[in-house]
Amino acid sequence: MKEKLTEIREAALKSIDDATDATLEQIKVRYLGKKGELTAVLRGMGSLTPEERPKIGQLANEIRESIEAAIAKKVQEAQAKALERKLKAEKVDVTMPGTALPAGHIHPLTKVRRDLEDIFIGMGFQVVEGPEVELDYYNFQALNIPENHPARDTQDTFYITDNILLRSQTSPVQVRTMEHMKPPIRIISPGRVYRSDALDSTHSPLFHQLEGLVVDKGITMGDLKGTLETFAKKMFGENTRIRFRPHHFPFTEPSAEVDASCFVCGGKGCRLCKGEGWIEILGAGMVHPFVLSNCGIDPEEYSGFAFGLGIERITMISRGIDDIRLFYENDQRFLDQF
Ligand code: DAH
Repeated sequence: MKEKLTEIREAALKSIDDATDATLEQIKVRYLGKKGELTAVLRGMGSLTPEERPKIGQLANEIRESIEAAIAKKVQEAQAKALERKLKAEKVDVTMPGTALPAGHIHPLTKVRRDLEDIFIGMGFQVVEGPEVELDYYNFQALNIPENHPARDTQDTFYITDNILLRSQTSPVQVRTMEHMKPPIRIISPGRVYRSDALDSTHSPLFHQLEGLVVDKGITMGDLKGTLETFAKKMFGENTRIRFRPHHFPFTEPSAEVDASCFVCGGKGCRLCKGEGWIEILGAGMVHPFVLSNCGIDPEEYSGFAFGLGIERITMISRGIDDIRLFYENDQRFLDQF
């Protein structure tokens, strides 16, 4: 029986030595399990003499322990090896330079719109929005643009019905604002506008404007000038000057087109300003008394100024962009420059 036990030990230890993770459990069952070889031998202990019994019992226990220990050791080795493999495979070199992911960025028109908003918010203006699908009344009628005015021409305006159109300017937001807001009013309203122009380097059927409106007691042309001068300096540089040229808009009286001194040549004349020294930046004027009264504001008590600018235009002159179509084509080579 002693030999039998020693044989079992030998065989067990050897197979443990050769075992893989998968076979280790089978080996354990084979030798130590309820139906295992060692157990089978111990079952035969009954036939031993009382003197032999404790010795063989002790030997059997030793063998059981040594097999268990060998299995435990093997398991531990396997775990250590697995950990080592894992650490090697997942090694991170924290000193390695990172891979830069190409970051998206803000569209130049959005950037300029936000800059414009920041400038006017800094002067106490509030940003408001109006609908792009607009009533004829707000886009034209209330703005003192009469029935037969050329601006109403179906050639210029996208009509949806006789009465409903895609707004051709942001000026209707003036009316909508004055209808529900009491003076003092100080708002800007950026947004999309639509005109049925053929697409070329300076025209697009969809473009963006920013409207401004101030209404209060005692507002004068001086306030308009001061506001626009502050804006121009913030937008184009501290040395920028502005000038007003007489113009006509139905919703302002008097009206002006406003130029900024060329921020490339400072007024001497260059390619950007086409030798003029000045660049047209917006239209403006004192809100027409008819427009005020159309909105329920008494022109005897209140006065106001308004202005409207093209965001594409401002972006093009300030960034040296010569074709409006570039804004809408999403060509990465163009967009990446901003
Ligand atoms: N709405 C005018 C346009 O689209 C721009 C404009 C001119 C707006 C003068 C104004 C203004 O508020 O006072 O051409």
